[in-house]
Amino acid sequence: MEKLIVKGKKKLSGVIRISGSKNATLPILAASILNKNKIEINRVPVVKDVITMVELLKHIGSNIKFDLKKKKIFIHNENRKLKTTAPYKLLKTMRAGVIVLGPLLSRFKKAKVSLPGGCAIGSRPVDIHLFVLKKLGAKIKIKNGYIFAETKKGLVGKRIRLPSISVGATENALIAASYARGTTYLSNCACEPEIQDLTNFLKKMGVKIKWIGNRKIKILGSQNLKPTIHKVMFDRIESGTFIIAGALTGKRLKVLGIETKILKKEISILKKMGVKLKVNKNDIIVLSSKNIKPVSINTQPYPGFPTDLQAQIMVLMTRANGISKIKENIFEKRFMHVPELNRMGAKIKILGDSSFIYGPQQLNGAEVMATDLRASVSLVLAGLAAEDRTIINRVYHLDRGYEKLETKLRKCRANIFRKN
Ligand code: UD1
Repeated sequence: MEKLIVKGKKKLSGVIRISGSKNATLPILAASILNKNKIEINRVPVVKDVITMVELLKHIGSNIKFDLKKKKIFIHNENRKLKTTAPYKLLKTMRAGVIVLGPLLSRFKKAKVSLPGGCAIGSRPVDIHLFVLKKLGAKIKIKNGYIFAETKKGLVGKRIRLPSISVGATENALIAASYARGTTYLSNCACEPEIQDLTNFLKKMGVKIKWIGNRKIKILGSQNLKPTIHKVMFDRIESGTFIIAGALTGKRLKVLGIETKILKKEISILKKMGVKLKVNKNDIIVLSSKNIKPVSINTQPYPGFPTDLQAQIMVLMTRANGISKIKENIFEKRFMHVPELNRMGAKIKILGDSSFIYGPQQLNGAEVMATDLRASVSLVLAGLAAEDRTIINRVYHLDRGYEKLETKLRKCRANIFRKN
């Protein structure tokens, strides 16, 4: 099994170009199921989850090509009959696969989609996804680990309030409603920038969608969709990860290809911690930052601080002069990186849904185990800041969501390589 070896304490300097967003690409690919015309998607990140979603679409019969060099996906499904089953073997490693349920059901009036596999960061049920689809007119049964959904006369627009905020359920509902008859009003929606990107893609296909404030969407469904070209937005979690890497070990690190107005919360918290940032419209320069200050943060749905950056900022908090606190509000078991960071010399205590980080502590290298996507990158960050050598096992988690992480870091003088 592959491992990453990091030799710490190298000062990072140079330029890092951010890839397209994984979490925007996945629902956009799912939404392609609605359209039989030509689709071209640009700036697609070459990461394992996207490759799995492409395999899933191929499995159902989609005529889809992924040009890995150009990072482009082409889809053309005219005169193709698509299957409506998404099997366990493709959903077990990628929970987001469940977002094909809405489009399959909406377009073909039936779908059989595996319940997603278990997840290290908590139970992650799909009840809200099913709730909204039922409201749109689906009959749903769960049997043998599969969701069986059907709608005799097709989905019909409705006024629906999501019982709680969910990114995936908002996406499933938005895509399904885009092909339903009539108008749907969704309220209490997630409003992550990736959902805005999905909205832009659906609008280009010809669906009339209007956001009313932050959490309400009006969707006028259409079955008459158009050929579409779309460029995926930047990956805001990858951006945050590299900005934190710069804050931890940087001399002068420039993070390019982003929209800083989307990163307001992250920037304000890093500034509060004393990180020296030069913020421009489409890039950020992170300068050598000493005297890091402790802060208290809560993970929240957008526009709050993202749970997907919680593990990374925790590493920076080990540097702060005092006690920092993180309250994790989104996932129940998302402190799996804490014991590993403690093995590297951090002093972090978990109390219920909160972690207390006692700084400053100098981290030192150790052999550690990655447990999920964002936890594994936090161990890379810890390795970059630590004395001596860190060995990170189970790096396949990292490959699910980070494009060329080591290459990008090596270009900025990090000493990091992969070994079998
Ligand atoms: C998405 C992101 C993930 C991010 C998360 C929160 C993708 C592919 N993944 O995941 O990186 O960490 O948003 O920002 O975009 N819940 C239910 N029932 C449901 C659905 C969700 O109880 O039917 C709960 C979850 O267990 C969790 C919370 O709601 O506690 C939020 O989950 P959700 O926003 O749905 O996350 P994902 O869409 O799975």
